[in-house]
Amino acid sequence: MHHSTLLACLSTLSFASAKCYDPSPAFPVPLWPSGAKDLKPAFDGIAAKLHALTAAEGANKYDTSSFSIEVTSNTDTLWRYYHTARRHNASRPGDTHVDGNSVYRIASITKTFTTLGLLYQHAAGNLSLDDPVSQYIAEFADPDSSGRIPWKDITLRIMASQLSGIPREMGQADVINEFSDPTQLGLPPVTREGLPQCYEYDHLHRPCTKTELLDQMKKKAPLFAPNQRSTYSNLNFELLGLVLENVTGLNYSDYMRQAIFAPLDMASTSVLKPASDEHAVLPLGQFFWDVDEGIHSPTGAIYSSSADLSVYLRYVLTHYNALATGVNWMLPASWTEGLSSFYGMPWEIFRTDKILRESKRPVTFVTKAGGVPDYFSRISIMPEFGLGLTILVGGSHDLLEAAQEIVTVELIRAAEAVVWRDVDSAYTGTYQAYSSAANQQPPLNSSLTITSSPSTGLLLMTFISNGTDVFTTLLAEYAGGARDDTHSWRAQFTPTLLYKNETTQQGEIWRLVVVPERLGEGQEAVWDGFCSTDVDPASYAGLPINEFVFWREEGVVELPAWRVRMRRVDSAADEGGGEKLVVQPRHA
Ligand SMILES: *[C@@H]1O[C@H](CO)[C@@H](O)[C@H](O)[C@H]1NC(C)=O
Ligand SMILES: *[C@@H]1O[C@H](CO)[C@@H](O)[C@H](O)[C@H]1NC(C)=O
Ligand SMILES: *[C@@H]1O[C@H](CO)[C@@H](O)[C@H](O)[C@H]1NC(C)=O
Ligand SMILES: *[C@@H]1O[C@H](CO)[C@@H](O)[C@H](O)[C@H]1NC(C)=O
Ligand SMILES: *[C@@H]1O[C@H](CO)[C@@H](O)[C@H](O)[C@H]1NC(C)=O
Ligand SMILES: *[C@@H]1O[C@H](CO)[C@@H](O)[C@H](O)[C@H]1NC(C)=O
Ligand SMILES: *[C@@H]1O[C@H](CO)[C@@H](O)[C@H](O)[C@H]1NC(C)=O
Repeated sequence: MHHSTLLACLSTLSFASAKCYDPSPAFPVPLWPSGAKDLKPAFDGIAAKLHALTAAEGANKYDTSSFSIEVTSNTDTLWRYYHTARRHNASRPGDTHVDGNSVYRIASITKTFTTLGLLYQHAAGNLSLDDPVSQYIAEFADPDSSGRIPWKDITLRIMASQLSGIPREMGQADVINEFSDPTQLGLPPVTREGLPQCYEYDHLHRPCTKTELLDQMKKKAPLFAPNQRSTYSNLNFELLGLVLENVTGLNYSDYMRQAIFAPLDMASTSVLKPASDEHAVLPLGQFFWDVDEGIHSPTGAIYSSSADLSVYLRYVLTHYNALATGVNWMLPASWTEGLSSFYGMPWEIFRTDKILRESKRPVTFVTKAGGVPDYFSRISIMPEFGLGLTILVGGSHDLLEAAQEIVTVELIRAAEAVVWRDVDSAYTGTYQAYSSAANQQPPLNSSLTITSSPSTGLLLMTFISNGTDVFTTLLAEYAGGARDDTHSWRAQFTPTLLYKNETTQQGEIWRLVVVPERLGEGQEAVWDGFCSTDVDPASYAGLPINEFVFWREEGVVELPAWRVRMRRVDSAADEGGGEKLVVQPRHA
């Protein structure tokens, strides 16, 4: 086969069939070493908007709402904003000076703690995520007596991923309990015969017992076959709590404290109600602070503060791919409705291309929301940005939604701008081959130039290898033609987040990918949106041809397949920076 034909085949395989824009991640995880300084203007702007929201909503809409918001990096809380309700219950005000230690009920955020416990047990070999739940709940072991749900086919992993297909509730969300006369809603008259006598069926006086829960489960039918389609279910987590109790021999509350709250030093966090109201956020009219969730605890009981959740988010940000073999805790397990939303384990994941103004690169929010009467919350992890966000509200649900829109959009736009400034000073410029002391040969005529911008990422602009312009030879072959006005592409770097030397975290490994420039509105074919990922298209004599290793301390880039090292001889944005952007340890 002729050379160029072979290359054409390769390029067809690798690049020509789709318009895969905007590789992600486009930069190493920022560590925000200068703390909040870089983001201060954004935080000031956010604070002003939050202030306006609570002050100006006229009609005292948020008079009885308090909230706590914190943004954390991998290592430090970068920003805090607290707001205290203007009106309290005079006879039981709770905390009237809200701060990072103020405690809220975090409701379904609890599910992430239950799942973390499950991951610990999986890592310890006390259970496998792929065991059926019937292995840990004796009542489900016998298919003849355990009802219509196929418990033997429901694994712990698919329960934690909201994929079990079992019903949502037992003991909650029955309209019969929420209206004094449901027949006025057009519902037929019914008796309470055979209904449970606990939790919401008992005005929240008493949680259901394990026996009541499991007896009711035997009467329930599945919504979907296991692993067929995701749907939100509290029962998944109530049952996973029982699984944890089974394998650890501890009750849920003790296990959470011993395995998670104590090791992470989350002193304001508990499954059970705190002994005093001192730090309790008690919005006027609330009643849920005092509700004992009992058997329902693993799905929504936990009490916590924004300061503690910042600690938790830092832990998750730095450990999510090192918790258990075979588990990357940030990845989706199934899609939900629409193009942008997914369930993880048990995360609620949102990917949007509407935040960044200069590129269509999606921003990923790995979140979990919580809601019980008068307490609304969401934690969000932005893994590409090395940021975590906690929003806890006691009071109005609208406030959570409004604050979330303001904080996430402004924060990510500002973070993106800071990142490109730092990338520019750290990597861009001209690099030239040099002679090492060991090798007295004159240097090769090899050089490259690198630029960056928020719209195009970190770009290879020119690449001469031993006198040959690689852009008109190899790269053009890969891209399916030379760069010109009608056939436009770019050569962009994407970080692997690995190092040549993991011990010293030196020698950042990146890959170069050929990216087609975006077509104008309306010019794309439907299937242009279909993108597989392949950052390892070819090798040269056994080494990856598109691997670039940045030895930043030396200002050197190494191209292993090309057997060359080049030194930065100038930099496009020389402001003496270059130390700001640090790749995060992935296996800490
Ligand atoms: C855990 O479940 C298994 C299987 O149902 C059962 O044999 C065992 O006694 C349970 N252990 C505890 C501590 O509940
Ligand atoms: C594994 O299970 C045993 C027995 O229940 C328990 O003692 C041990 O603490 C568990 N391991 C972990 C990491 O929780
Ligand atoms: C959990 O177990 C501990 C120790 O056995 C006990 O003191 C505590 O009351 C239990 N908590 C709950 C909620 O059952
Ligand atoms: C105020 O607190 C008392 C208990 O101390 C409670 O009985 C009452 O219902 C509360 N009122 C409101 C409006 O929350
Ligand atoms: C550079 O190119 C010359 C021919 O132009 C060739 O002889 C030599 O082997 C090449 N050296 C390297 C290190 O690529
Ligand atoms: C290096 O190679 C490039 C591309 O072939 C050529 O334009 C340039 O003149 C060469 N430089 C030197 C110093 O030989
Ligand atoms: C990493 O760097 C340290 C310190 O320079 C060195 O001792 C070690 O051998 C290096 N490891 C690898 C895999 O190169």
